[in-house]
Amino acid sequence: MSLRDIVLYPNDVLVQKASSVASVTTEVQQLVDDMVATMYDAPGIGIAAPQVGVLDRITVIDISSEENPDELRVFINPEIVHAEGTIVWEEGCLSIPGIYEKVERSNKVVVQALDREGQEFELEAEGLLAVALQHEIDHLDGVLFLDHLSPLKRRMAVKKYRKVIDGIKKKRQEAQSKKKEQD
Ligand code: NI
Repeated sequence: MSLRDIVLYPNDVLVQKASSVASVTTEVQQLVDDMVATMYDAPGIGIAAPQVGVLDRITVIDISSEENPDELRVFINPEIVHAEGTIVWEEGCLSIPGIYEKVERSNKVVVQALDREGQEFELEAEGLLAVALQHEIDHLDGVLFLDHLSPLKRRMAVKKYRKVIDGIKKKRQEAQSKKKEQD
């Protein structure tokens, strides 16, 4: 298991549609394990493959933030087959750090997917898990939570984000040059 770099907004890979996984190979399982490690390290409650630069339809979610091992779920080729109700949740995104905005989504969704072993399953999710699923599945279609905001709110969020990201990029560069010195 190894950590992968999280792709930060704006980046082309975040606005592209990811491809279906043809078969759950050991390589795919390796990616899944790396995504889980990267999500926990961040820390976050969900991450999608495009966020680590891979355009595969894979997402992992743990709304307990590693508190409860049973909450870790792997979704390969997830599809929402039913959605109902509405819920407003303040969302954030590992690719858009420092920005949190209220987004309206379905309160309940039914999702079909393959698990880490390639077995089909169906899951009914409500509340935060439903929100996380819709947020992550959006990533597989190149859609970000910013895209759900009104044009004005989106502009304000992007403006705020630019300030946040300048600081983060500087920190990353410093860490990388430190690492090079050590190598
Ligand atoms: Ni996200």
